[in-house]
Amino acid sequence: NKVGEEALKKIKVTRTKNSRIGEIDFNNLIFGKQYADHMLVADFDGKEWKNAEILPFGHLSVSPSNAAWHYGQAIFEGIKAYKDQEGMPMIFRPYDNYARFNNSAERMGMPEVPEWLFIGGMELLIDLDRDWVPTNDGCSLYLRPFMIAADEFIGVRPSDTYKFVIINSPSGPYFNKPIKLLVQDKYIRAFPGGVGAAKAAGNYGGVMYPTMQARKQGYDQILWVDGLEFKYLQECGTMNVFAIIGNTAITPDLNQGTILAGVTRAAVMSVLEDMGLKVEERPVSIEELVEAYQAGTLREVFGTGTAASVAYVQELDYKEHRIRLDPTKYEVGNELLERLDAIRTGKAEDTHHWNYKV
Ligand code: COI
Repeated sequence: NKVGEEALKKIKVTRTKNSRIGEIDFNNLIFGKQYADHMLVADFDGKEWKNAEILPFGHLSVSPSNAAWHYGQAIFEGIKAYKDQEGMPMIFRPYDNYARFNNSAERMGMPEVPEWLFIGGMELLIDLDRDWVPTNDGCSLYLRPFMIAADEFIGVRPSDTYKFVIINSPSGPYFNKPIKLLVQDKYIRAFPGGVGAAKAAGNYGGVMYPTMQARKQGYDQILWVDGLEFKYLQECGTMNVFAIIGNTAITPDLNQGTILAGVTRAAVMSVLEDMGLKVEERPVSIEELVEAYQAGTLREVFGTGTAASVAYVQELDYKEHRIRLDPTKYEVGNELLERLDAIRTGKAEDTHHWNYKV
């Protein structure tokens, strides 16, 4: 690939002398616990990206006065790499994540990251750590590019300097069972005009406490609704949300700027259409789900995300309403997952051109 060649000219590569791959039990991968041998690190000096280097995975040395710790100029992405049937690594839709990363950067007042660094750097890294891409069912190499402010200054203003890093984690499934969701009217995740559509670290920090409260009541995640009427669906946990009503798939539209434009969400919409379902992207109220459930037409509810892929919902509580679904009978979800996995692992033809071959 041309981007990889360009990246090679600009990125210094220092290989590890002590691979840790022998320590990994690829049959028992837990999400986000272990990291591949190498990482990429680069600095933005206020004008340009430089010091780009792939080196053995290790700690970063950062000042306690680093602006990111204090004011949260920190963004990230989640991407997955798989192997095709010949064992060659492929990254799933990295350009979509690249575009979203730079949208997040803009919203957070951070610099744009160039293609040679984000895509090219990722390609070199996976080329080097190709043995770390798992092939077991439901497993993949989870790629985590991120950017943090780097100024050693605790005055409140956008940092001049930044660090861009990519770390990769061989990972198993994010959820190992169907999830239970709570719709509540106390906390909100995002409001129009806020940062809900950015993949900003603070969006995840802000939902920890409400999610802890929901967990105490036996739920896995909160199904976030809008903060004005507490009525329109936004996201479920850290995922986008879909409901299958009859032969139609519905998912909230992105027009309010409160929902992350999921790359898996986009892929799921295409695959559902391939499967012959009608896909509607529009405001979805919680009452609509309750009414469809009461009418017997609500077939399935699931979350979609890079980490979780497709997470089936088995319980959904809203006020006095109790929606109970049986994920063992999720025909749409099962076919969707099968088709997605087949594309991502090269078993099925990549008709949408989603796989980036390394
Ligand atoms: C992802 O699905 O990739 C996410 O970023 C969600 C979560 C693991 C932070």
